[in-house]
Amino acid sequence: MSGHGRERLDEGNAAESIDLAPKIGLCAGMDHFLYRDGALYAEDVPVAEIAAAVGTPFYVYSTATLQRHFRLFDDALDGIDHLVCYAMKAASNQAILKTLAQVGAGMDVVSQGEYLRAKAAGVPGDKIVFSGVGKTAEEIRVALSGGIRQFNVESEPEMEVINAVALELGVVAPITVRVNPDVDAKTHAKIATGKSENKFGIPISRAVEVYARAAALPGLEVIGIDVHIGSQLTDLEPFRLAYQKVAELTEVLRAEGHNIRRLDLGGGLGIPYHTQSNDAPPLPVEYGMLIKHTLGHLGCEIEIEPGRLIAGNAGMLISEVIYVKSGEDRDFLIIDGAMNDLIRPAMYEAHHDIIPVVEPAAGIESQPYDIVGPVCESGDTFAKQRDLPPMAAGNLIAFRSAGAYGAVMASEYNSRPLIPEVLVNGDQFAVIRARPTFDEMINRDSIPEWL
Ligand code: LLP
Repeated sequence: MSGHGRERLDEGNAAESIDLAPKIGLCAGMDHFLYRDGALYAEDVPVAEIAAAVGTPFYVYSTATLQRHFRLFDDALDGIDHLVCYAMKAASNQAILKTLAQVGAGMDVVSQGEYLRAKAAGVPGDKIVFSGVGKTAEEIRVALSGGIRQFNVESEPEMEVINAVALELGVVAPITVRVNPDVDAKTHAKIATGKSENKFGIPISRAVEVYARAAALPGLEVIGIDVHIGSQLTDLEPFRLAYQKVAELTEVLRAEGHNIRRLDLGGGLGIPYHTQSNDAPPLPVEYGMLIKHTLGHLGCEIEIEPGRLIAGNAGMLISEVIYVKSGEDRDFLIIDGAMNDLIRPAMYEAHHDIIPVVEPAAGIESQPYDIVGPVCESGDTFAKQRDLPPMAAGNLIAFRSAGAYGAVMASEYNSRPLIPEVLVNGDQFAVIRARPTFDEMINRDSIPEWL
């Protein structure tokens, strides 16, 4: 399906979203990173004003976009019992979690840190799902003690450990088993998870055996099935194949006597990273229709775990040009953001649209730049030969679609402190994670006595 003229789930093209708003049941004017009078705004705050207050580089998120994207999923599943559990690995600042929890989100967590962060943000245990292929006994203990909606179990040895910890605590652990449906998600190899060669889940062909084993363990209560086939899927077909297999398995397991009442369908719906391209991924409403068609007849509660689609286009990375350097055959924009702040281009050859914070005047001709950071490796390249208006030192640029897997994947490589995160809400903004001082960063090291 062509993306032309469709609501793009991004913030770039007001005309497009207004045009199509009625068609997909949204109201107009939903773009939250837009130029106004020649300046880029995040909701009602000029991005340059935030830059002046917090310094660059920084991440900025829009409350309205986060909540709108959550609601798109919630509405898409309207009419069936469901819970949208935000995959908080995408962006896990507590202010973001609270923003989503306020509109009803549950959380999908994959570590003790994420579990505790969700709890600290006020999310109740019965809305937290614990996924992940390597949960330790300690992580299981913490979650069982603090309250958990369910564990998505990924292996038989893990099942034994959850059983043992539950018996030790005198509780029963609700579980689903993650099945690996052996479906090609047709996405980047590093983020595909549903093929048999991937480390995730148990082979669907062994499900009957594994469920029988789970049912025999007194510390476990088998409540459903879990599946997640990958991330940044731009086609519904792999979801359809996987969900059809889950539907069949539900019937088979029920016939075996299991009370299958919840289906966790994972995350993975892709987002449009290219504003100018016409092939936008399917919309949540289409994804919801697919879920209803393939699984609606089973009477199960549906759970989904979207991360990227909720946070991705709700955040931008803002950076300043340090130098414009003329190379032999190209010009480089050397900016103060680097691969340690946003690793996606270096790690997945990912594309992020890059736009100037001051809107180019009409008729200004753009020119190609290689946009690079200060880190000492050639991989620290965000984009090659990207067209921008003529840029100068001190100019600000914005990386779009950087809200998911941006700040959370940052590191302090090259001793560059983690950059701040800012949340905008209407005309207000707040620093939701401050930039550490150099001393804070350096003083985390300790020197042994013998030195
Ligand atoms: N559920 C499970 C079990 C997952 O493993 C993931 C993502 C999600 C849900 C959320 O998927 P989403 O809706 O965000 O596609 N760092 C990579 C993406 C890694 C995704 C890992 N798992 C990137 O920057 O593209």
